[in-house]
Amino acid sequence: MPSLPTAPGFPPYRMRRYGGFWHIDMYLKFICASHACFRPRPTDVLLASFPKTGTTWLKALAFSALNRAAHPPSPAGADHPLHRNSPHDLVRFLELADQDGDGLIYEEVPSPRLLATHVPYSLLPHSITGTDDGSGGRIMYVCRDPKDTFVSFWHYHEKTTATLQQMADVGGASEAMPTFEEAFELFCQGQSAEGPQWRHTLEYWEASCRSPDKVLFLRYEDLLLDPPGSLRKIAAFMACPFSPEEEAAGVVRDIVELCSLGTLKGLEVNRRGSTMLGLKNDAFFRNGTVGDWSNCMTPAMAARLDGIVAEALEGSTLTF
Ligand code: A3P
Repeated sequence: MPSLPTAPGFPPYRMRRYGGFWHIDMYLKFICASHACFRPRPTDVLLASFPKTGTTWLKALAFSALNRAAHPPSPAGADHPLHRNSPHDLVRFLELADQDGDGLIYEEVPSPRLLATHVPYSLLPHSITGTDDGSGGRIMYVCRDPKDTFVSFWHYHEKTTATLQQMADVGGASEAMPTFEEAFELFCQGQSAEGPQWRHTLEYWEASCRSPDKVLFLRYEDLLLDPPGSLRKIAAFMACPFSPEEEAAGVVRDIVELCSLGTLKGLEVNRRGSTMLGLKNDAFFRNGTVGDWSNCMTPAMAARLDGIVAEALEGSTLTF
């Protein structure tokens, strides 16, 4: 690791470049640990995303759909794990779940396991990506317009800087908080956690084109347009489609309502609680709209980022 290039990044931590992507230095060793320890099961579902693209929502939807027999998406007032836990504590990140590196945390999760990751496709454990026979489990990826992703990142970091600073003091030097313009430049250079975003998304896009049964590609914008339709797609991909009886009973509607931004944001656990990693839950819920970038970025900034993305994706079938 010491031989890998380092640079300041946004979020403002020391970044290290590995495998064509920039990683927060203090987390890179956990990516390597997961390669050594993680043993996939055929029933695993891995929720993959670039940060700030809808990870929290996808975790809530997938968890609620997969566990609806044990935990019905009950009417208001009845108990559900999402009422008491952040989606991030119900679905743990593969690369952060096992900081002791002995693989035990993954083993303790009963099948079918739901896990999450921000790691690029090409840097996932080979045991997940190296086979097409189903033994590596399935992957759902959510993507989002880079302009909204950056703006979401910016607001998130305004809220979490103090906590992340404390974590960085333990795990590695952090950098001074950049201005909005400086952060934007770093994001454009790809110097963001698991960046550049467009390359991250392109890898999962290409994997979903090669193996649509293994990798489901979703868009945050589509989830917002049609939450019930997206939820049906998610459940079918996890091999637990909704039955006609469940449809008639309004289970889809109830899960969509339970996982909506309004519901989750209003819960006590998400207003005042913190995740197991010590991050304030409320930082994960903001306004959840498409096009919020236009309230923060100049047209010139937007055109610059669009241009960088278009150039990077030239020759591919991916569009944002
Ligand atoms: P905004 O900052 O644009 O509002 P992530 O979960 O990957 O960290 O992404 C965070 C973004 O998803 C934030 O976007 C947040 O508001 C939005 N989000 C979180 N929960 C959501 C939900 N249940 N429905 C819709 N959007 C949600």
